[in-house]
Amino acid sequence: MSSEPADLLKARLPAQVLERLASLRLADGRVTLVLDASGLDAAARTALEAEAQSALAQAPDITEVRVAMTAEKATPAARPRIIAVASGKGGVGKSTVSTNLAVALARAGHKVGMVDADIYGPSQARLLGTEGLKPTAREKTLIPVQSPYGVPVLSIAHLVDAGQAIAWRGAMAGNALGQMLDGDWSGVDVLIVDLPPGTGDIQLTMLQRYKPDGAVIVSTPQDLALIDATRAIGLFDKGGVPVIGMVENMAGYACPHCGEVSDPFGHGGAEETAKSGSHAFLGRIPLDISIRRDSDAGTPPAAGDGPQAQAFAQIAAHVSAWLAAR
Ligand SMILES: Nc1ncnc2c1ncn2[C@@H]1O[C@H](COP(=O)(O)OP(=O)(O)O)[C@@H](O)[C@H]1O
Ligand SMILES: [Mg+2]
Repeated sequence: MSSEPADLLKARLPAQVLERLASLRLADGRVTLVLDASGLDAAARTALEAEAQSALAQAPDITEVRVAMTAEKATPAARPRIIAVASGKGGVGKSTVSTNLAVALARAGHKVGMVDADIYGPSQARLLGTEGLKPTAREKTLIPVQSPYGVPVLSIAHLVDAGQAIAWRGAMAGNALGQMLDGDWSGVDVLIVDLPPGTGDIQLTMLQRYKPDGAVIVSTPQDLALIDATRAIGLFDKGGVPVIGMVENMAGYACPHCGEVSDPFGHGGAEETAKSGSHAFLGRIPLDISIRRDSDAGTPPAAGDGPQAQAFAQIAAHVSAWLAAR
């Protein structure tokens, strides 16, 4: 008895069945189809099965058509709220603020996760002390890496080898971002997203597909950085994303030799800019060599008990109040 090959059977299937086809097997005139039924209600599943049955029943030499539906995926947990950390310029301390805000929020009792959206310049694997760790995957869902600070994290640095150039086109970068944001964030209430600088593709992907619930804008007190910060604020305003407030980073430098405090990047600019745009001012982080040193070592200052931990805790308290008010 000759059977029609599997490919010819597939050609008989209508598009709405084909697009849900997980597998098709043919043995001794019996064909077994596995269809992905995720998202379908009972009526739609019955209709899909009937379509598959009738399309294959007419094929020659087929004695039996069996249709199996994959188990409905568990309804996904409520998506965590997303807080984007952004700036107009690079190097102003977005990643540093993201890490320490996440750690400080976790210390305050929130269930916090971190997505490093800086595909071309990832920082969070190092900053959260998870360098060299690899996420696992369940089916196609990435399971975040656990950091020692109670903040699960996904960064492109966990997915590609250290030092490997990341020269992806925009679409691939957007795809990688999507995989991280669609990771298994069950148990996480607040997802901090550390954005790359500026107002490019990644920001647009975020606004269109993973609209943040709020944004924290980081700036140095310097005029130029502030002009760029204002641009970043404009992007969120246009996208309908509330700006939670501004953080002024690298404000005031205490000379480690004489103790004199100077203001290499000016002082108070972010607070004034926040006020002039009627945005909240969340706090000020000084330029402090220990922040750079601890950050590079993968031990976030917010996890310690120094004065910088205090400063980050205060910023986290503002964000926490904002979250509670929603
Ligand atoms: N308040 C600060 N004091 C000292 N160094 C800082 C401070 N904030 C950030 N840095 C350092 O500045 C560099 C750039 O910070 P980063 O957070 O990576 O900026 P961005 O993500 O905006 O590019 C890093 O080496 C970081 O450790
Ligand atoms: Mg960064």
